Amino acid sequence: MITGAALYDRLKDVKLGGTICLFTPEKCEQIAPIVNEIERLKKEHDAVILAHSYVGPEIIATVADFSGDSYELSKWAKSTTAKTIVFVAVKFMAETAKLLNPSKRVLMPSTNNGCTLADSITGEDVKRLRQQYPDHTFVCYINTTVDVKAQCDVCVTSSNVYHIVETIPNDKIYFLPDRLMGQNVINSLKEKGIEKEILLWNGTCYVHEEYDPDVIQYLRKEHPGLKVASHPECHPDVVAQSDFVGSTSQMLKFVADNPAPAYFMLTECGLTSRLQLEHPTQKFVGACTMCRYMKSNTLADIARVLSSPDPIDEIHLDPEDVEGADRCITRMFEYTNQTATR
Ligand code: 13P
Ligand code: SF4
Repeated sequence: MITGAALYDRLKDVKLGGTICLFTPEKCEQIAPIVNEIERLKKEHDAVILAHSYVGPEIIATVADFSGDSYELSKWAKSTTAKTIVFVAVKFMAETAKLLNPSKRVLMPSTNNGCTLADSITGEDVKRLRQQYPDHTFVCYINTTVDVKAQCDVCVTSSNVYHIVETIPNDKIYFLPDRLMGQNVINSLKEKGIEKEILLWNGTCYVHEEYDPDVIQYLRKEHPGLKVASHPECHPDVVAQSDFVGSTSQMLKFVADNPAPAYFMLTECGLTSRLQLEHPTQKFVGACTMCRYMKSNTLADIARVLSSPDPIDEIHLDPEDVEGADRCITRMFEYTNQTATR
């Protein structure tokens, strides 16, 4: 049983704009009973809670058994022995968990589980593109629905996209759906002297496309020694001015490994909250943006899906998509394992 005071001790360093504490002692007293109820329900239903780093710190610091980036969450989903997975993120990630561990019951507490990238393309679009570009290898970002994955050759995440696109033994690639990430990969390959024809779909993440490179310049002047980390969904002009680009978990590691007087994290606000929890003495400057889909996950909805889920809260995959999508994701693991054993 956790008390409100113990919760406050965990959450007190999460500060909006670096000053205003998001969790007062009173708020933590209110949250404690639902946290304890979720812990009870987890035991009753043999459930594990996997949470993306973008969801609220009141979830990450309490009921989450594991939190991380989309690649790490997939690996956890694949290996868990629990009967039920509560996937606290967005729908395409929960679908991936079900694909990787089909005998598990996968529940989704999110009440707004879209994603502007995943919603920008359908499996039918990919079928049409494949007829148009029969010689291209189709690479999809994990931020796609299962019917899109079913039509593609290899899936990637932000933690392995650069390596996989480089390694694929074809110099004709169709990368979808994130045109900014695709352009970042093209630029990185060019820097290495690698020429590939990479065609792009016109999707973007509404959170990351908004970041402005001028703000980086301004903050660098204000905070000498500032370190800037960005996500590959950001505009190439932002990436060009960053000290580091990588997945959300790689950004966490960058902060842990690179001491600096201040950091500017160009990604969803949840990551900075998580860093404040894990590195309370570090300084984080600049603004971040919230993802309305990730932030639709609440403690109340986690308790609700564990105790009395609606049919819509459980992931069911169309059997027609399963084989193709599973092959697409398995190839991603094969490519990343090749690197690990090199
Ligand atoms: P990660 O793979 O880095 O967790 O990113 C997922 C995502 O949705 C970023 O917006
Ligand atoms: Fe999708 Fe962007 Fe939200 Fe990530 S942050 S889930 S890419 S809308």
